[in-house]
Amino acid sequence: MILSGKWHSDRVKILILSHSSSGNTSLVTRFAERRLARDGHEIITVKLPATPPDPATFDLVGVFSPTMYFRPMVAVEAWLERLQDQCEARIPTFLVATCAGEPGAHFEIQATQLARKGLRVFAAHFIPMPSNWPPHRVLSAKIEPALPLGRLMCRGPLRPLRVALGFLWTELTEPDERDRREFEEFLDRLPKEAAAACPDVARLYSAWLPGAKALGHRMTTREMRKATAVRIDPSTCKRCGSCAKACPSGTITWPEREQPPVMGAGCTGCWACYNACPHGAIAGWMSPPGKGRYPGPSRETCALFNH
Ligand SMILES: Cc1cc2nc3c(=O)[nH]c(=O)nc-3n(C[C@H](O)[C@H](O)[C@H](O)COP(=O)(O)O)c2cc1C
Repeated sequence: MILSGKWHSDRVKILILSHSSSGNTSLVTRFAERRLARDGHEIITVKLPATPPDPATFDLVGVFSPTMYFRPMVAVEAWLERLQDQCEARIPTFLVATCAGEPGAHFEIQATQLARKGLRVFAAHFIPMPSNWPPHRVLSAKIEPALPLGRLMCRGPLRPLRVALGFLWTELTEPDERDRREFEEFLDRLPKEAAAACPDVARLYSAWLPGAKALGHRMTTREMRKATAVRIDPSTCKRCGSCAKACPSGTITWPEREQPPVMGAGCTGCWACYNACPHGAIAGWMSPPGKGRYPGPSRETCALFNH
């Protein structure tokens, strides 16, 4: 149990549970680790699929994950279900999401799930990052001439529009120094705020896109799969196994090294395999093999969070 006075004086032990499909969330997780460790806190990071340790041995828990379909990623949800039940412990927990700009019901659903596990979510923050959803990237590439306008959107009073317009042009949601500063401030406030009362989960985040929360609540794995089934092209596949390694649900297996990996039945439509395949051997809805592949955060974004 946390004693509120402890947060103002002592160093605390923090468990970070993190998952990233294509590198955005890994980057901000590493940044947070360094920032919190700088203040003397002890950080233990565990990544999917490793079994999460018992949260009861930590003072504070942080969950870092990407948003998918305005809700938490299905594989992350299944992973958090493996957390040991804390019953009445009410361990203070914060959420960090990376997303293309609209987390919808992400925080609400995740906080509710964690509450059932005895973890009390008191704060949530998202960082805009380029979309790694291949159909989005394929479509948005068509408005590339908007580039100068995009640059304008990143500065001054038009800045809030940049996240909204990220739906049209994915690179607009490249984070900038202001995003990093806001994240630093969020991290710096955590120890103090952990002792504060827990807000109503619906108030952790207000969606700016009408219907985004409702959509997030509505999305089931079946709904997601409708538009997102991917397939491996055996003639292009180089048998490197990247897709099987990237699949967070363990749906892609690679039983025979001489043959392409095998797509099982449990796909949740996250496209981690598509983005991980270096040979463009995976295709899906609106996404010819390799066309909308997200190669991971740009050099500028890496520099921004690696400083
Ligand atoms: C299938 C899929 C669905 C997504 N849905 C959303 C969404 O609802 N809202 C959003 O803002 N971004 C969405 N994104 C974008 C990702 O959340 C974003 O690119 C994130 O930073 C990826 O993190 P990662 O690189 O750590 O995997 C989606 C991406 C994928 C692949």
